[in-house]
Amino acid sequence: MSALDLLKKEHLLIQRYLDNLSVAQDLLIERENVPPSVITTAIRFAKDFMSKTHHFKEEYVLFLKLAEKKGGALDPQITSLRDQHERSRGLVAKIKETLNGYEKGDEVAFSALAENMGYYVSLEKSHLHRENHVFYPMAEEVFSAEEMAGFDAEFAKIDEKQGKGTFEKGVEMVEAIEADMKEKFGAVYRDRYEDAVKTHEHS
Ligand SMILES: [Fe+2]
Ligand SMILES: [Fe+2]
Repeated sequence: MSALDLLKKEHLLIQRYLDNLSVAQDLLIERENVPPSVITTAIRFAKDFMSKTHHFKEEYVLFLKLAEKKGGALDPQITSLRDQHERSRGLVAKIKETLNGYEKGDEVAFSALAENMGYYVSLEKSHLHRENHVFYPMAEEVFSAEEMAGFDAEFAKIDEKQGKGTFEKGVEMVEAIEADMKEKFGAVYRDRYEDAVKTHEHS
């Protein structure tokens, strides 16, 4: 699998994660008690899979190589993509701050969690869309197959640092979120999840 194919495969998993969170967020807005385990696993996925694995590959390999190749012409765009990564981390921290109060049934924490979850999902969805439709195609044009193959080893190093089976661990976390949502909300979850998938497939 080429380096860019790996990033795209990671995007698909992230998209599945975001579709689940968008269902969870809708239910939170309706004052439904989403299991706290869904939120804690979502935070873990954001940190372990998105920041340490996916964003790391983009920032320290793909963006860097693109910047070198384009001699600074892409710097403003890269800075803005990095800024989105940074703000995404900030929103995850905010979600984490409200978790304790949420578990205790605090109303302010409840609505703050729902809001921050919404900002987070919306930011991540537009970020993914932008990378899929603008940035990755640009990388495909700029780099030869040989250059792209050179990234494979660097990507492998990043994954090894996180221990073996990084992608599989990411899949397990998303599956855990889905299992908890299914157990709590049953058919309501299933229908809304299908709707969430349809919505982004049409966008
Ligand atoms: Fe990114
Ligand atoms: Fe990405």
